[in-house]
Amino acid sequence: MSESEKVAFVTGASSGIGQATALELSRQGYQVAIHYFENEAGARETFGQIQRLGKGRARVYAADLSDPSRSTQLAGDVLEDFGRVDVLVNNAGSLVERRALADMDFDFWRRVMALNLDSYFLVTRSVMPRMIELKSGCIVNVASIAGRHGGGPGAAAYAAAKGAVITLTKAMAKELIPYGIRVNAVNPGVIATPFHKRFSSKEVFEKFVSAIPQQRAGTSEEVAKVIAFLASDDASHVVGESVEVNGGLLMD
Ligand SMILES: NC(=O)c1ccc[n+]([C@@H]2O[C@H](COP(=O)([O-])OP(=O)(O)OC[C@H]3O[C@@H](n4cnc5c(N)ncnc54)[C@H](OP(=O)(O)O)[C@@H]3O)[C@@H](O)[C@H]2O)c1
Repeated sequence: MSESEKVAFVTGASSGIGQATALELSRQGYQVAIHYFENEAGARETFGQIQRLGKGRARVYAADLSDPSRSTQLAGDVLEDFGRVDVLVNNAGSLVERRALADMDFDFWRRVMALNLDSYFLVTRSVMPRMIELKSGCIVNVASIAGRHGGGPGAAAYAAAKGAVITLTKAMAKELIPYGIRVNAVNPGVIATPFHKRFSSKEVFEKFVSAIPQQRAGTSEEVAKVIAFLASDDASHVVGESVEVNGGLLMD
């Protein structure tokens, strides 16, 4: 099957890493399901750029993925429209806000978990049966360096969710590889996206960057290329791996 008949579904494709991934997969010929939450203009920009590439069909979907019923419904809508999902990129995520454990009530904890962990499970769970039917598919989960080192200031719930995504990736990979479905993750380090504009002051961001051996933040495109590699046949023997994309900030 050629890439032009294949479908990529990218959550959080209205900015940053998700937008760059949607564009990269479109460049490779995939039809793309573009999801966003509040930034409709960003999603439209992704759509417009895909149209200009002239490679294939794209469609835009809105959903708050911290609402479990919306995660399931979104995946159902994409499958209904496209008939299949060959590449699923679980990318939508957020710190929600920086909050110390002492100030964290259970509602806040649940909100962060619902978006950064539950939605990855729910969207995957809804897309999986079709992949199993087709005996092929690739899933790439966008986790984080926070999931390995505990995160920056006020990021305990987010870091815990991302750590769980890394573990969930391995469990999913074991369960799904017998059906020809490969599951992997990427762990971005400090990437220059609206995420940091929203959650890190200039001083905090500069402090993060100064600790990177490569002495610069990463770009969304640098993460998108790794996601596209993991989703491609070039990574046909890569299963359950979490690839660090961090300029040397954390090495195994
Ligand atoms: N930037 C970094 O340094 C870094 C490092 C490690 C991991 N990551 C991870 O990389 C992924 C992408 O982040 P980014 O840096 O590209 O940030 P970003 O530019 O802020 O993009 C985040 C995306 O997630 C979507 N989103 C946020 N809240 C949502 C909700 N409640 N429901 C559904 N979608 C929601 C946003 O949608 P709208 O904008 O449309 O609302 C947006 O498309 C996230 O999982 C993040 O945790 C980023």
